[in-house]
Amino acid sequence: MSNQIPEEVIEAIRKANDIVDVVGDYVQLKKQGRNYFGLCPFHGEKTPSFSVTKDKQIFHCFGCGKGGNVITFLMEIENFSFYEALQFLADRSGIPLPDNLQLKKESSLSQESQDMLSAHEWLTKLYHHLLRYTKDGKEGYTYLKERGINDTTIDAFQLGFSPNVAQFTAEFLEKKGYHQQLLVKAGLLRVTDSGKATDRFLGRVIFPIRNHLGKTVAFGGRAIGDHKPKYINSPESELFHKGKLLYNFDLAKRHIRKQNEAILLEGQMDVIAAYQAGIRNVIATLGTALTDFQAKLLKRYVNIVVICYDGDRAGLDAAYKAAVLLQQSGCEVKIAHLDPDMDPDSYIHTYGGEAFEKDVIKASDTFMSFYMRFLKKDYNLNHEGDRIDYMEAVLKQLAKIDSPLEREYYIKELSNEFNISIAALQDEIFGYREKFGLNKDNQQKNRYTSSKLWNARNSQLLPASHNAERYLLAYMLQDIRIAERVQDKIGAGFQLDAHKIIVTHLYAFYEEGNDPDVSLFLGRITEPGLQKIITEIAMLPLQEDISDKQLDDYIHMIIANQTDKVTIKSLKEQQKLAEQQNDPIKAAQIAMQIIEIKKQLKNMN
Ligand code: CTP
Ligand code: MN
Repeated sequence: MSNQIPEEVIEAIRKANDIVDVVGDYVQLKKQGRNYFGLCPFHGEKTPSFSVTKDKQIFHCFGCGKGGNVITFLMEIENFSFYEALQFLADRSGIPLPDNLQLKKESSLSQESQDMLSAHEWLTKLYHHLLRYTKDGKEGYTYLKERGINDTTIDAFQLGFSPNVAQFTAEFLEKKGYHQQLLVKAGLLRVTDSGKATDRFLGRVIFPIRNHLGKTVAFGGRAIGDHKPKYINSPESELFHKGKLLYNFDLAKRHIRKQNEAILLEGQMDVIAAYQAGIRNVIATLGTALTDFQAKLLKRYVNIVVICYDGDRAGLDAAYKAAVLLQQSGCEVKIAHLDPDMDPDSYIHTYGGEAFEKDVIKASDTFMSFYMRFLKKDYNLNHEGDRIDYMEAVLKQLAKIDSPLEREYYIKELSNEFNISIAALQDEIFGYREKFGLNKDNQQKNRYTSSKLWNARNSQLLPASHNAERYLLAYMLQDIRIAERVQDKIGAGFQLDAHKIIVTHLYAFYEEGNDPDVSLFLGRITEPGLQKIITEIAMLPLQEDISDKQLDDYIHMIIANQTDKVTIKSLKEQQKLAEQQNDPIKAAQIAMQIIEIKKQLKNMN
C-alpha cells in the first residue's frame, strides 16, 4: 500500500499531525482522564463512545469498533485513499511530499469527479478575477459594493461575476481541455435549444459554494436587481449535495469549536455580512430546510446552535423545524429574534455588526421561550378554549425539560400571563411526565471512561484465557521487554488466530529496531479487522507497573488452556477408540476425565 513512499516520510508526516487535533476538526472531543472522548463520526450515537489517545496516537470507538491511526481516520472519514490522506496531512503540516510521488497519488474520487472539481477551481478563479479586475465584471463588483461588501470579504469568499457573454466560460474551459459533456453534467454549462453550450449563470454575481475542505463544489448565482429567479444554483452532483453541506463550514468550523457555539443562518449573503462584521462562527443552509444529516454533523462539532433565520413567517416556521431537529440530535438550541422585515444581512447593514451580536445573537431565546411565542400564532388567546389548548400544548413541551429549576421559570411565566396558580400548572406537568415516563430518576448522566466501557461491554463476555491474551498483547504493545519475555516463553503460541498474526507482526516490528508505537505499528497492518482488534487492545486500561509474576500468570493461563484443549482432543480420540474396541468401561472412564478437565477449564475461564 505504502511501498512507493519512504517509511521515514510517512513517519515524519504522521508525527507532525497530532491525531487529537486532526480528529478534533471533525469531532468535538472532551478530555477525560488520559483519553479524549466524543461522539463517533462513523455511527449515530448520543453518548460518546469514541475515544482518541494522545500518547498512543490512535482512535477507537467502543460502539462500532472502528479504530486506527491518524491516516486511517482520514481514509475513513473523508473516503480518502492512502495517498490522499497523506497528501492532506502533508499539506496540513507543511511537510512536502517528494515531487515524483505527487504524480502517483491515486484518488478515491472518480476521474469524472476529479475533473469536475478542477473545472470548478478554474471557474472560481475566472469569475473572481473578472469581478475584481476587469470591465466585464464591473457590474457585479458595483453590486457587491452597494451591498456593503468590501474587497477583503470579496476575496475571502472568492466572490465573482459571470459576464453576459454566452460562450465565454465554455470556451475558457474547453481551452483547458475539459469536455463539454462533462461541464454540462457538472451543471457549469447549459445547452440551449439551438444546441449550443452556454454559461449557466450569465450576468449573475457568483458565490462559490465550498465543501468542508474548502473546495468549490457548486456555485450560486445572484441576479443583479430584481430579475427572477433571484438565485440560480448548480444542480446536485456527485460533488454537491445541498442537504449535506453547510455554507462556509470550512472557514467557520475552527471558530465554532473554539466558541462551542455555531450560528446558523439561511443564506450566503447573511453569512458574508456576519463574517465581514467579525462574527466568524456562522454557517448557512442554502435556503433549504435543515436536514437530519446537517443537524448530526453540527452536533459532532458543537453543543450550542443559535438559529437566526429571516424574521418573516417562513423564517419562523423554518427555525422551529430546524430547532426540533437540532434538539433531537442532542444540541442545545437558541433562537434569535428578528423583526419580520429583517434578515441577518439587512440587520447588520442597518444597525451594524455589534448590535447584531449584542441585541440579536446574545439576546436569543431559549427553545422554550421561542416555542411559547411561536405557538401563539395557532391560537386565538382571547377565547378561553384556545387559551386552555395553548397552555396544554406548552405544558406538554415543558414536561420534557428535565431540570426542575428551568421548568419552574417557565411555569412562573405562564402563571403570570394566564393568571393560573403555579401549583395547578405543576400538577399538569407532573401528569405529563408520568405519561412520558420521565418522573423516574433519569438524571444520571452516562459518563464513560475507557475502563468502565471495557468492564461493561467486553471483558465479562470473554473467556479468561482470551482476556489474558488481550491484556498480554496490550502490555506487549507498550513495552519491548514484556514482548521479549512473552516471545521467549510462548512465541506466537496464542490461541486466537488474530492474536497470533498480531504478535508475529509485533515481534517483527521490534526486531526491526522500532520502539513501542501503536500508531506506527498500525501503519503496517493493512487489514481493517486486525486494525480494529489492535486499537481495541491498545485502549485497555493497564496497570502502571505490572510485575513479572502477573505477566507469567497471564502466560500460564494461555498455556494451561492450550494444554487442556490438546489433552481433551487426544482423550476424545482415545474414547472413540475404546468405543470402537467395545470397551465401554474404558470409554466411560475417559469420558469422566474429559468432564473433569472441562469443569476445570470452565472454572478458570
Ligand atoms: N435561494 C435560492 N433560490 C432562490 C431564493 C433563495 O437558492 N430563488 C437560497 C439562497 O441560497 C439564499 C437563501 O436561499 O441565500 C435564502 O433566501 P432569501 O432569504 O430569499 O435570500 P437572501 O439570502 O436574503 O438573498 P439576498 O440578500 O441576496 O436577497
Ligand atoms: Mn437578504
